[in-house]
Amino acid sequence: MVRKFVVPALVLSVLFAGVLVQAQQPGHNAAPAPVTFAKDVAPILQKTCQQCHQPGAIGPMSLVTYEQVRPWARAIRARVVAGEMPPYRYDRNVGIQNLKYDLRLSIDQIDTIARWVDAGAPLGNPADMPPPVSFPDPAKWEFADQFGPPDLVVKTKPFTLPAQGQDVWWRPLVPTGLTTDRCIKAVAVKPSLKGRAAAHHANSELVVLDQKTGQWVDGERVTEYALGKVGEIVPGDGCRTLPANSMVRWDVHYYPTGQELKDDVIELGFWLYPEGHTAKYKQDLKLYSLRMKGGDLEIPPHGTAMTQGFHTFKTPVRLDSFQPHGHFRLVAKTLEIFYPDTGRLEMISSISNWTNNWHTSHIYEEDSSPLVPAGATLVITGYYDNTRANRYNPDPDQWVGPGSRTADEMSHAWIAVTHLDDEGYKRLAAEREAKKKARTNTTQ
Ligand code: HEC
Repeated sequence: MVRKFVVPALVLSVLFAGVLVQAQQPGHNAAPAPVTFAKDVAPILQKTCQQCHQPGAIGPMSLVTYEQVRPWARAIRARVVAGEMPPYRYDRNVGIQNLKYDLRLSIDQIDTIARWVDAGAPLGNPADMPPPVSFPDPAKWEFADQFGPPDLVVKTKPFTLPAQGQDVWWRPLVPTGLTTDRCIKAVAVKPSLKGRAAAHHANSELVVLDQKTGQWVDGERVTEYALGKVGEIVPGDGCRTLPANSMVRWDVHYYPTGQELKDDVIELGFWLYPEGHTAKYKQDLKLYSLRMKGGDLEIPPHGTAMTQGFHTFKTPVRLDSFQPHGHFRLVAKTLEIFYPDTGRLEMISSISNWTNNWHTSHIYEEDSSPLVPAGATLVITGYYDNTRANRYNPDPDQWVGPGSRTADEMSHAWIAVTHLDDEGYKRLAAEREAKKKARTNTTQ
């Protein structure tokens, strides 16, 4: 569990410190309130665990009844204290903390679970149990509650995956059928229920017809789906264009699970603004790559490596989301902004307990998404650990190079960017300043 890098150790110690501080408060020591499943723990599990840990969902076991949860008490404590469950790996106390779809538990909730397990995981009074919650069908589209069913669904061609073998890629080209340009409101990927465990990731890119040359050319990235990633909503002031007569080029990465997967189909859902909708700014979701000093990513056996990427925009921009990418040897990735006029380097987002199991797009809340002045530089840093200290490392004796197999490494991040102008940048900054003032006035 103890890692070589400073960042994870720091985050873990912050977490434990939080737990300790709680436990040492005089109130707790004098008459520790007994923590019970029925009164304290069940409501937490209902709210943050059961959507995945119920029969038929993606979690490996159900955490609904006391009888189901009790045998997992120690594992739950370990995963929750380490910040590994719920699966939203994002460092606390550093960088922007206001994120949409943030699954993280509060330090108080973690403390409650830890104290409950330490006290022998008692049930308590069954009369305290909250009524069971009902969940939407897991086969339902993300955003269906907000926007209804998608306006357009593009499916992969069916694919059959053998029970055993290596990574497999499936890259069908499928027309969208759209005849006019439209602005995307939201986009989400839905794997099949049976194929969920095997679809490691599913990327989609647009291929558009160049009217002048009559050639099909590469367009923009639509979205990247990977285990645990929700879709993305485009902020209201930006237009991410889905061009007329485009095709979606899928890039699905399957990994055999021991069971044959027959005729699997993955769906891509688009929610679109009505025809004729205009937005002031353009938004795009692009890959920003990181390189090793002096060359490509090469990690020696039992060694470590660091990669960095720099990107400067000519106009002011707003960063709407950040999603690190890497495999087994990646342990941490950070996003910072360097301001050349002041020399300041500001930490925006840090993920220091990375796992290849979960690829999450961290979407900033509207009033917290970083505004980047023209000329400032994004600094993205990746840390790799090919030693035994990295418990996800399948084989520290290997040289690891770049590649898209899970046993190789990758070094990039996906960032959704809204391209502003000077007027827009100033207005957004002023609006935020005004809201901040209003908040401090009301709290005084
Ligand atoms: C988004 C879905 C999701 C949510 C939310 C979630 N889990 Fe999980 N959980 C999983 C999946 C999938 C796995 C297996 C893969 C892994 O370990 O990452 C897992 C694994 C676990 C394990 C390890 C099981 C083992 O085999 O050792 C524990 C313990 C656990 N979860 C507890 C929790 C608790 C407690 C919560 C809420 C506080 C929670 N999870 C929230 C999906 C989820």
